[in-house]
Order: sequence, then structure tokens, then C-alpha cells
Amino acid sequence: MTHLRLQAATVLSKVVKDGQSLTVALDNVLENIADAKDRAFIQALSYGVVRYYHRLDFILQQLLSKPLRNKDTDIKMLLLIGLYQLQYMRVKSHAAVSETVSAAKKKSWAKSLVNGVLRQYMREQTELEALANKAQISVYSHPEWLIKKIKKDWPEHADKLLQENNKQAPMALRVNLRQSSQQDYIALLADNNIAAQAVSFSRSAIILEQPVAVEKLPDFNAGMVSVQDTAAQLAAELLDVQPGQKVLDLCAAPGGKTAAILERQNEAVSMLAIDIDEDRLVRVKDNLQRLKLDAKVLAGDAANPDEWVKGEKFDRILLDVPCSALGVIRRHPDIKILRRETDIAELQAVQQQILSAAWALLKPGGILLYATCSILKQENEQQIEGFLAGHADAEEILIDAEWGHKRPVGRQVLTADQGMDGFYYARLIKR
Ligand SMILES: C[S@@+](CC[C@H](N)C(=O)[O-])C[C@H]1O[C@@H](n2cnc3c(N)ncnc32)[C@H](O)[C@@H]1O
Repeated sequence: MTHLRLQAATVLSKVVKDGQSLTVALDNVLENIADAKDRAFIQALSYGVVRYYHRLDFILQQLLSKPLRNKDTDIKMLLLIGLYQLQYMRVKSHAAVSETVSAAKKKSWAKSLVNGVLRQYMREQTELEALANKAQISVYSHPEWLIKKIKKDWPEHADKLLQENNKQAPMALRVNLRQSSQQDYIALLADNNIAAQAVSFSRSAIILEQPVAVEKLPDFNAGMVSVQDTAAQLAAELLDVQPGQKVLDLCAAPGGKTAAILERQNEAVSMLAIDIDEDRLVRVKDNLQRLKLDAKVLAGDAANPDEWVKGEKFDRILLDVPCSALGVIRRHPDIKILRRETDIAELQAVQQQILSAAWALLKPGGILLYATCSILKQENEQQIEGFLAGHADAEEILIDAEWGHKRPVGRQVLTADQGMDGFYYARLIKR
């Protein structure tokens, strides 16, 4: 078992020290691990430590007489792994300590440090956890700047939002409406002993009672279903594409919303899917192929349409802009470690630029749907308020829905509202 903790420490160092995403760091390590149980253990440790990083780190600081050097990040990660097992996992404490100590391998100073710190934690656990329950960074296990921002934007919801961010999101499916329906697919799942429920305000969304591996989903390879959060599926509903229309999906990769739009409209629609990232566009093509859908897929910068579109205008534009992704922390807890406060203003500027460029591609009478998986007002309602103030030919079409919160402009889903990821939508029509 020893090396499994070391593998998890490698994953964590890649995230914390090198700024790699947890998914990439984990995939790189897991591709060399054959045993499914071992893989699951490394994954559970990595996700768990990332989710509780700020709390575990707070506790570790109480136990270290001096901070560890940057070059000893792997040892720090092992210490956090040890603390995580002792507090959150059903691993016997003596095994958690001895296995973590032996994962420190050749470095004898590190072995005795890990041993000493973990044993001291076990002796003082009650006091240390009580202390951690007094500081907001460890209560919420989020960086200070982020706690402040969320409290400022959502004073009444902040406590719940911050707690929900540390829970696991449900597994949601999108049934391919060209091939099946919500009720028929739920019946098919039941035949396969998978319990699920329909989402009442969506035609395509289904929530599983327990997550399952995609290979277990009936007819997944035949394209009958995809994994996608309910909030993301709402984009297709809101865009309201009509037969024969020309649709542009401007930040399309990996293609979840492109596909959702096409699945909803059986009759001919011309879809152009653009993304700046060529590697991610491969996933768009793969998804469309599996789902038996058709779109033109091109690499391009949404802020510079002249490079990839020649005078063409569109009836519908989906603008799922790059954002802070603070609405999907449940699924990507590494956002709490990787995101910097300064990113927000930079993202806001990029979003503004893309929005202006996209607007010029919309036909009069056409509809643009602006979307983010963020809960920050700067990226959402404030962004659209600013846009409306500067564009006399733009008007909001109200989103009247059973989900989320009506805002001065647009509609906000706060993380975990009706089980969904945090999302924002604003629908604009060109006069
Ligand atoms: C939120 S993700 C899109 C998710 C996608 N709509 C879906 O539902 O699967 C944002 C995407 O914007 C792309 N992006 C970032 N900057 C861009 C730009 N200037 N032009 C085009 N795409 C960009 C990123 O590569 C990323 O794939």
C-alpha cells in the first residue's frame, strides 16, 4: 500500500506546486496503476486532500515548529494525506500512520517528522479540530479571498454556498432526445438496476441516486446518453433553436452544450462550433460522433471572428465564456487552490471582449445566450448590465423559470440549488 500514498502525494504536488489541474495530474498517475481498487484509493486521497486542503493545512501549521521548504512539497503532501486519513477516512489510525511514514521512503528526517506530526495530531485531535472550527479559512476550507468575495456577493447564502462547495455533486445525465426520452431512459436504467429520477424542469436531465461508471450506462456508446449537470443542460432549452436556423457555439469545447442543442432539434440546423483550444476540439468531435450529431467544428479566437468567419451572421449564439468556474468547485475542488484573486478581473475583461465580438455576428432579431459556471456578480449580472448600458440594440429577454434566482439581469443558479452546479444565464435579443 505504501506506494499508493506516495502516488497521491505526487498528484497533490503537481497541483499545489506546479499548478496542474487535478484531473490531468491524476490521469497521469492513474494510467500506470492497473488495479481498480488502488486507483480508487489514490483518487479518494487526492480529491479528499484537495477538498479539505485549507483546513488540513491550517491544522498542519499548528503542528510544525517551522514551515517546510518549497522543495519538500512532497513531504508536506504526505503529511496532509496522513491528517486526511486520520480525520476523514475509515483507515485504522495505526495503519494510516505507519503506511504514511513508510511512504516517506529514504528520507529519514522526513520519516520521523511524519511520524511525530501524525502522532501529535492523534493526541491533540479534539483541541486541534476545535481550533480549526474557529478560523473561517479552516471552517470553510476555502482561501480567504474567496470566502470574502462569496460573502460580499451573497451575504445571505454564503455560509451554505461555502459548505456545499465541499460536498460531492450528484451525477446527472442528459438523455439524447433524438434517441430516447427522460422517462424511457429512466426505465432502461431501472432495468439495469440503476436508480434515477427525472428533473421536473428539464426535458432531458436525469439524476442518479448513486454515481456509476459511464461504461455501466445503457447505450452510452450508442450515444443515447451523456454525463452533464442539469444547469448546463438548461442552455439548450433557453436558446430555443428553431428549424433551419444558423447557430454559433463560440466557446464550445468539450461540446456538451453543442450536443445538447443539436439533440433537442431534430430538424435541420446548421451549427458552427468554435473553440480556441485545438486539443479540446478533438473532444467536441468525439462527442458529436458518439452522439451521431453533425456540426462544423473550427479552431478560432472568439474575440477575433474575422479570422474564421467571412461576413456570416447567426440566428442564435451560445456564449459559454471562459470563467472562474467557481460554480463547479464541487466537481473540481482544485479550483480553490489554483484560482487567484487577480484572475477574476482578467477573466472579466476577456468575457467583455468576446461578448462584444459575438454581438456583431448576431442577426437582427437573433438571440444570444450568455453563460458562465460562475457565481460571481462581476462575471455575471454586472458584466451583462455593463454590456446593455453600452449597446442600445441589445435587450434582455426575461428568463422566467422554476429554477435559480431572478437577478436584475439574467438568472443565477447558486451551487446546489435543486442539486445543480452554480451557473448564470442571460438571454439577449438584438433589436
Ligand atoms: C466553459 S468552457 C466551454 C464548455 C462548453 N461550452 C461545453 O458545454 O462543453 C470555455 C471554453 O472557452 C474556450 N475559450 C477560452 N478563450 C477562448 C477564446 N478567446 N475563443 C474561443 N474559445 C475560447 C476554452 O478553451 C474552453 O473550452
